[in-house]
Amino acid sequence: ASRNPLIDEQISSPLQVFGQAKKQINNIFVDIQDYVTDASERMIDVNKICPDVIVENELKSILDYRSKVKGICEVLTRDHMKVAFFGRTSNGKSTVVNAMLGEKVLPSGIGHTTNCFLQVEGSQTGDAYLVTEGSNEKQNVESVTHLAHALNYEKQLNEKELVHVYWPKDKCSLLRDDVALVDSPGVDVTPHLDDWIDAHCIDADVFVLVANAESTLMVTEKNFFHKVSTKLSKPNIFILNNRWDASANEPEFLDQVRKQHMERATDFLVKELKVCTPEEAVSRIFFISAKEVLQARVKERNGQALNSGALAEGFSARYMEFEEFERRFEECISKSAIKTKFLNHSQQGKQLVKEMYKIMETIYNRSQEQTHSKMCQKKEFQEKLNFTEQQLICITNQMKMKIHQMVDDVEDKVSKALND
Ligand code: GTP
Ligand code: MG
Repeated sequence: ASRNPLIDEQISSPLQVFGQAKKQINNIFVDIQDYVTDASERMIDVNKICPDVIVENELKSILDYRSKVKGICEVLTRDHMKVAFFGRTSNGKSTVVNAMLGEKVLPSGIGHTTNCFLQVEGSQTGDAYLVTEGSNEKQNVESVTHLAHALNYEKQLNEKELVHVYWPKDKCSLLRDDVALVDSPGVDVTPHLDDWIDAHCIDADVFVLVANAESTLMVTEKNFFHKVSTKLSKPNIFILNNRWDASANEPEFLDQVRKQHMERATDFLVKELKVCTPEEAVSRIFFISAKEVLQARVKERNGQALNSGALAEGFSARYMEFEEFERRFEECISKSAIKTKFLNHSQQGKQLVKEMYKIMETIYNRSQEQTHSKMCQKKEFQEKLNFTEQQLICITNQMKMKIHQMVDDVEDKVSKALND
């Protein structure tokens, strides 16, 4: 466990770093939202009293920022980490997803099972339900058979379609920590790889190629990831060599086969796709048995003991390798999602605050200028008043003197007349 110095909470899994980053950036945007609301309300008030201080465009921009920030806040609450699973039919994609969830959520089986895209994510209500694309209707899901039934019979689904499966968060820590797992139909059963990538993969943080360790990487699987890497720069790809339990049947070839798979998978990631270095490839390629992990976890959940007699040789090593994959996967997805989801938001936030600051500064400067010019006008007026007052005093004094003179004059004249 480590401590995040900014939040002061215990972190037990790298996935929680994403949750905390989300909380932090959310708080920042709530502050920005308060500020924009406050600023816009004040501007409206000022505009009523002094309409020439704020230009119409400035008020409009601030109101636009207000709705932009609101939009970002809404996107933020929906942001999650997304992992997409691909591979040929029957390689065990759905079983890997179930093993990671720790229970049988998605239908799996021999033959072509998954017939559309299935996104498993945490349910806010605690109920299990599914929602098909373009509909708001929640269909309750009681069990995996019920889910399989809903997917197969209630509606003819298109392989490109996405069905959201909402699963109770308290049943799985991955869902609690905001991870969405996307299961897909086999890459070999569709001619629409491009559409798939555009529709479901562009925002995936991690891709998991579920390969069949009993055979080898196939051209269709490789082609799919070549297409992905032309559309995304350096996608994060893990390769799971699933069904590794089969190797227990041929222990004499185990090391040789593992070496062959390892070399081919490394070449694919390093030389063909150029998405990682040979050193990094070591922590991107794993040999596992999803079926065994799922069985073990379901038993553990039900409080049953594992029947070691029924397990193939080398089970614990494969189980540990699966756990190692999960650890690496958690580190990778959390880091990638923080970058892809929040970097963009934080840049937008910064830009927005900068632009708002500029507008507020312009308004402030303009109001200062207007105050100054009014003060100058007042001073000029005062000076004129003073001058007029002086003039008046002068004139009054002169008149006073004149009147005195006139009175003296009249008195003189009157007394003279009387004497005469
Ligand atoms: P589609 O949905 O048809 O594309 O197949 P998928 O890739 O989802 O395969 P799914 O998980 O349905 O598994 C196919 C079959 O392989 C099931 O019967 C699984 O039980 C079995 N299976 C999956 N993983 C393993 C494994 O590690 N070892 C063994 N022996 N069988 C496995
Ligand atoms: Mg499947």
